[in-house]
Amino acid sequence: MERKNSVCLLIAICCFSNLALGSQDLEGKWKLLKRSIGVSAMHMALLPNDRIIAFDRSHFGPSNITLPQGKCIKGVELETSDCYAHAVEFDPITRKVRPLTIQTDTWCSSGALLANGVLVQTGGYRLGERVVRYLKPCSDCDWEEDHQNGLISPRWYASNQILPNGKIIVVGGRFQFTYEFIPRTSDSDRKILYQLPFLKETMHSPKIPNNLYPFLHLSTDGNLFIFANDRAILLDYVNNRVMKNYPVMPGGISRNYPSTGSSVLLPVNLSSINVHINNNNKPVVHSQVLICGGTLPDSNENAAEAQIFLPAAKSCGRLTITAQNPKWEMEEMPLNRVMGDMILLPTGDVLIINGAAKGTAGWGAAREPVLNPVIYCPKINRFRILSPSLIPRLYHSTAHLLSDGRVLVGGSNPNVNYNFSALFPTELSLQAFYPPYFNLMSNRSRPSISTVKPGAFLKLKYTENFSLGFKLRSGDLGEIFVTMVAPSFTTHSFAMNQRLLVLELHGAVQKSNTAGDYIVQCSAPPTAALAPPGYCQLFLVNDGVPSKAVWVQIK
Ligand SMILES: *[C@@H]1O[C@H](CO)[C@@H](O)[C@H](O)[C@H]1NC(C)=O
Ligand SMILES: *[C@@H]1O[C@H](CO)[C@@H](O)[C@H](O)[C@H]1NC(C)=O
Ligand SMILES: *[C@@H]1O[C@H](CO)[C@@H](O)[C@H](O)[C@H]1NC(C)=O
Ligand SMILES: *[C@@H]1O[C@H](CO)[C@@H](O)[C@H](O)[C@H]1NC(C)=O
Ligand SMILES: *[C@@H]1O[C@H](CO)[C@@H](O)[C@H](O)[C@H]1NC(C)=O
Repeated sequence: MERKNSVCLLIAICCFSNLALGSQDLEGKWKLLKRSIGVSAMHMALLPNDRIIAFDRSHFGPSNITLPQGKCIKGVELETSDCYAHAVEFDPITRKVRPLTIQTDTWCSSGALLANGVLVQTGGYRLGERVVRYLKPCSDCDWEEDHQNGLISPRWYASNQILPNGKIIVVGGRFQFTYEFIPRTSDSDRKILYQLPFLKETMHSPKIPNNLYPFLHLSTDGNLFIFANDRAILLDYVNNRVMKNYPVMPGGISRNYPSTGSSVLLPVNLSSINVHINNNNKPVVHSQVLICGGTLPDSNENAAEAQIFLPAAKSCGRLTITAQNPKWEMEEMPLNRVMGDMILLPTGDVLIINGAAKGTAGWGAAREPVLNPVIYCPKINRFRILSPSLIPRLYHSTAHLLSDGRVLVGGSNPNVNYNFSALFPTELSLQAFYPPYFNLMSNRSRPSISTVKPGAFLKLKYTENFSLGFKLRSGDLGEIFVTMVAPSFTTHSFAMNQRLLVLELHGAVQKSNTAGDYIVQCSAPPTAALAPPGYCQLFLVNDGVPSKAVWVQIK
């Protein structure tokens, strides 16, 4: 008895101090959802019908899933026919997979959801490098490819961000020191390429640019924050003017491809206390960016040329991008990590998942998979190690938040083709990670949203007040807040367009006449600079435990 007690005590202390790495008692849980979806999930997006779209590149021949009904397409880049699908739709609830048809190569491309919920994907490799592809959220829709009105410049390793006017800005790409806007739907949409010398200035060397897939975040003042390598600017993209040059992030670590760290805009809290009216009579609120992991600038050269796998960085930088005199605050993760994905959880915490402790992005260029995710709490600046996965997720792996609060994890293919006998085999599987708010204790406090009013067809207008009805399973009413999460397009460890707002609440939570039901009054975000138009997941959080999301469309 005595012995048992002391073991329990030891575990409790270890959990708290995170010394028990690999222990069964760490928080969080993994589940294999599908051994194979037929493709390796290099790119991943969530549509408003709760289907995941996952796709790979398409110029390497057979995947592990064929096109439907014996269909074949002209092989991309090959003078052959290709009867394999390189994109799929996945339903995280039924676990059904539906093959989709890509005609041109989507390798290392980018994307975003349009305001109407259509997934737009841009660029890729060779014949695909200027193509813009559209996928509507419906149960039998397939890709439509636009070759005529595609990108002005070829874009491979570019990044996208949806803007307050509903257009998407596409920034950079290999040797592309420019940006442009899509979709160009009418003649009045001018076909203009804007120069961005910052992308040339931040290259480490012409051979290893180290600033690809730049991190883009729409600042709460409407300008675009762009981070590349170890530097950042604030861009007025309308007038093509650099508004601010931020200080260099200290530490000499490169953060962008192939030194691949990751980046998030931390939760934007719209509580009226935080919102200020600026000189132009616009409501503004401060916003912060957190960038974690990456590695030394020459790590890729070391791996590729000498098989030397340098350690990944432990450091993160946190910056208030709207401050008068912004300064990087450096923090340490408990684990070194390159190619980690940073995912905003409905609670406002940041999950850092996937990646390796040594090497970089690139074919066979990483070692020592980091199997433990960590969770970062922005409020108290603390990291915690969570329980490990059994599946390494290295180069070309992805993660995405699902509407039920789980995080879907897939991909990993550091091999030239699909190779199931390599040191790190091509991964076709999908797993779900259950963050700590899925534990038994938390289940008692789990709320569920029952009504959104008026929210006709769950459409919200800017500044509009609405009421949110919710039920509690059995636990007590605790601290309540409401978050709105914009879904992302995730690839190469960067979740483009990911954004989490904490909504303004009015008055106290009211008990409604129905037993177990409560009502809380909220305000929709005030401006499109704070919430670009489109579909978002609305979560209600009770004492740190999120409900399932309902989708709302903000206009
Ligand atoms: C993919 O297909 C190949 C060839 O048919 C097979 O050997 C392999 O086991 C499959 N892999 C998975 C993960 O399904
Ligand atoms: C939002 O900000 C308000 C005011 O500072 C604070 O009281 C509240 O706890 C914050 N909410 C969250 C979820 O961080
Ligand atoms: C798979 O990887 C192994 C180890 O790198 C290599 O020897 C083999 O040729 C590869 N197979 C294919 C089909 O590319
Ligand atoms: C908590 O609830 C979720 C969803 O309702 C369920 O999948 C999970 O198994 C529950 N966890 C425990 C530990 O009971
Ligand atoms: C929303 O409700 C609050 C509190 O009742 C009120 O002060 C505010 O004016 C309302 N806003 C709108 C746009 O109706």
